[in-house]
Formats: sequence, C-alpha cells, structure tokens
Amino acid sequence: MEKIISLCKRRGFVFPSSEIYGGFAAVYDYGSYGVELVNNIKAAWWKAMVQENENIVGLDSSIFMHPKVWEASGHVSGFSDPLIECKKCHARLRVDHVLEEVGVFADEKMSEEEINKLLQENKDKIECVKCKSKDFTEAKKFNLLVQSNLGNFTGDWTKEPTYLRGETCQGIYVNFKNVLDSSRVKVPFGIAQIGKAFRNEITARQFIFRKREFEQMEMQIFVKPGEAMETYEEWRKIRWQYYLDLGIKEENLKWHQHENLVFYAKAAWDIEYNFPFGFKELEGLHYRTDHDLTQHGKFSGKDLSYQDPKTNEKYIPHVVEASVGADRTFLAVLTEAYTEEKLEDGSERVVLKFPKKLAPIKAAIFPLLKNKPELVEKAKEVYNSLKSDFMCEFDDNGNIGKRYRRQDEIGTPYCVTVDFETIEDDNAVTVRDRDTMEQKRVKIDELKDYLTLNLK
Ligand code: GAP
Repeated sequence: MEKIISLCKRRGFVFPSSEIYGGFAAVYDYGSYGVELVNNIKAAWWKAMVQENENIVGLDSSIFMHPKVWEASGHVSGFSDPLIECKKCHARLRVDHVLEEVGVFADEKMSEEEINKLLQENKDKIECVKCKSKDFTEAKKFNLLVQSNLGNFTGDWTKEPTYLRGETCQGIYVNFKNVLDSSRVKVPFGIAQIGKAFRNEITARQFIFRKREFEQMEMQIFVKPGEAMETYEEWRKIRWQYYLDLGIKEENLKWHQHENLVFYAKAAWDIEYNFPFGFKELEGLHYRTDHDLTQHGKFSGKDLSYQDPKTNEKYIPHVVEASVGADRTFLAVLTEAYTEEKLEDGSERVVLKFPKKLAPIKAAIFPLLKNKPELVEKAKEVYNSLKSDFMCEFDDNGNIGKRYRRQDEIGTPYCVTVDFETIEDDNAVTVRDRDTMEQKRVKIDELKDYLTLNLK
C-alpha cells in the first residue's frame, strides 16, 4: 500500500487534498494521470451499462435534493455508523471495524445496545489504534449525512439543514417517473448515474478506499415484483464478468453475502477485491424490493406506480441495484496493475500493467536525442498526427531508458521513438511494448492504424 500511495503522489495520480495546508482527512485530489484513469474507468462503466444495454438510460441528477428525500430514504434517522472515542487521546473509531480487526463480527446495522454488548465482551482485546489505550466511551450511532446551509439565509441553519447526497441512487428514485414519461423505456428498465456522494466517515484510513467525498457509479433496474430475483441473479453474473473484462484476476475477487439484511431487502451480496489490506467491498448488489419507490410515493404524495401498457396491471416496481465507487475501482485497478519486475540485466522496473483501454496515456512520443532539432521536429510532427486520436504525451526529458521507466510507471502501453534512421532512411519509428518490452519498426504512415488495432 505504501508503495502504491508513494507512486500515486510521485507520478501525479492522487494528491492529498489541500496538501499545502497539511491535508484534509479522507479527501483526495486526482492529478493529471489520475484524472485520465478515473475518467477511463467511468467511461468503461458507462459503456458497459448504458451504451451496451438498450433498456438502461443515463441520468445526471443534482448533488442537492429536497431535504425530505433524505427523510423518505431513511438517511436522516438511520444512516449511521457506531462510534467510540478513546478517553485518553480522543481518537474516534468505528466500532464495527475495531471489532472486526479482533475477529468479532459486527456491522453498522446493529443497534447501540448490541454493539455495546459486543464491546463489553471483547474489551480486553480492543485498543486504540493511535495510543493503545483500552479506555473508551460507550458506542454511539453517528449520522453520516453531511449537512449544509444551501438556500438557508438565517444564522441557524442546523435546525433545517439541506444535505449533500449520501448516495447517488436517491436521484434515480425521485426521477423514476420523469424518465418513464420522457423516454421510451418500459419495465424492466434501468437508470444509471455517475456522481459525487458525501459521507462523514468516522475513520479516515486506507487511502482512497474510504473517502468523505467520493464518486459512485450506480444503476437501479426497475422490474416486475415476481421477476426481481431472476434479474438479481442475472446481474450478479454480469457484474462479476465486468471486473474480469476490466483486467482483474478472478482469484482477486470474492463474493460476500450479507448476513444481516435491512428489513426491506431480500438479497445483498458484495463483490470484494483483494486490496493490499485484504478482501474488502468493491461493489454492492442489492435487491431492495419496492421500498424506495414506496417511501418516495408516501413522502411526496405522488403516485410512483407503473402501469403495464399491455396488461394494464399496476404495481410499484421492485429495484435491483448495482453500486460501485469510482475511487474504489481506481484503487483496485491500480493494485492489480502494479508490478515489480527484475529484468535480464539485473535492474528492476515498476510497471503499471493497466488494460489498454484504462491507461491514462496511450502512447508516448520521444525524439531519441533532445539536442538534435531535426529529431525533435519529426517527433513533434508524429505527436501532432496522433494526438487527436489517442491521449499522447511528448517527452524529451532525460535519456531514453529514463523515459521508458517513467512511462512504465504511469502504464503507457506504447513508447514511440524517432531516431536518425527515421529521418535518413525508412520514415519509420521504433514502437516499444510496455509489457513485453519488445521493439518493432513501424512506418509513420501506418502508425495510427497500428495503435488503433493494438489498443483495442
Ligand atoms: N446505494 C447503495 C449504496 O450507496 P454502499 O454500499 O453504501 O451502497 C456503494 O455504497 C459503493 O460505493 C461501495 O461498494 C463502494 O464502492 C462505494 N463507497 C461507499 N462508501 C465509500 C467511501 N466512503 N469512499 C469511497 N467509496 C465508497
């Protein structure tokens, strides 16, 4: 993990937020390569969801919604994690995680009573992660919704706060009727959305795995009640395959079934990934029955039922949800790609073996020597001829070996070098493959086709 964090900083993937002010816990910024990677991850998800499924449409709802949305969804009353405070150093910890670390199952759905009982039973085993003290306050539920004063111009807005959304899917539920009435979709159909979500997470650890401002990619599929379980099982298979297609090795994925379901849910499984700190949730797949639409129907007073155009049957559709964080996918993809290799000459290299579609830079263009204007000019020409088709980088810094190492560390699949032969002889360039390190001579006229074919 330390190596990945250090590479992320050094090579411009991820920076701590507001670092010059000492950082801001559990908030991170994506640097120049990070933003390319996360954009490619979001594009791959969007393609798999919206472009390749004729019954799934996209949505981009606002971060802010009517405060009643969060009452209807249950977030105001029940979206909380159990918290304890160390009496010595005042560190705040998530009790279910602390218990999990000593091998005791607990989760955020348990009541304060249940959690405190477990805490008492295991108090000798539990110590503060910061100061090692064993003296804690009682566990209390802490609400994770982030509040704001949007639209409230009084000094005391905390009585009637507005909320930054705690999950993106509530925007999907409240737009269910709008989408139904404005597009040609019929049940079963899905709505997909990518966007920011905010949670006052108690513990800020594990890098971008648990952020307070993060991005979700969520898809809700609305189905006829009796058909939901079948759809659920189908989507479990689809989402598993999606990760294999994203270059994740199957041995690094695992299913985790939730034992403790919320009262309205009929099934909940997570796809876990083998992060550097162990198998943890990457994506959640939930069968949420008709709970969400029913709640929003009640709180808004609007009829959110669906009438089957063929049978005239009227019902509240059931929801199957596939929800994953863009940031967690980023960390999984980066972990999977991170490779240390010993080369034949005894040297070592770090290479990010991203699937080509996710690589931030697809091709780097080099002049063999920086101080030969004719080489630089030709390399610039090659770069200019490719840049509108591929995300490219021109690099003439340091010797060629150093440039290869730099591109390996950011996962660039192809390095293209212009040398004297290019100008004097064959109008071709050397194309070096990131993974095999093999080099090939490719005519400049054929370079675009070569990259198009090989980057697929
Ligand atoms: N709508 C369902 C929902 O929000 P969740 O399990 O709380 O369910 C879904 O979140 C996904 O969002 C998780 O599987 C994870 O990938 C991502 N996620 C949740 N909290 C996160 C956080 N604090 N930081 C980064 N990603 C997070």
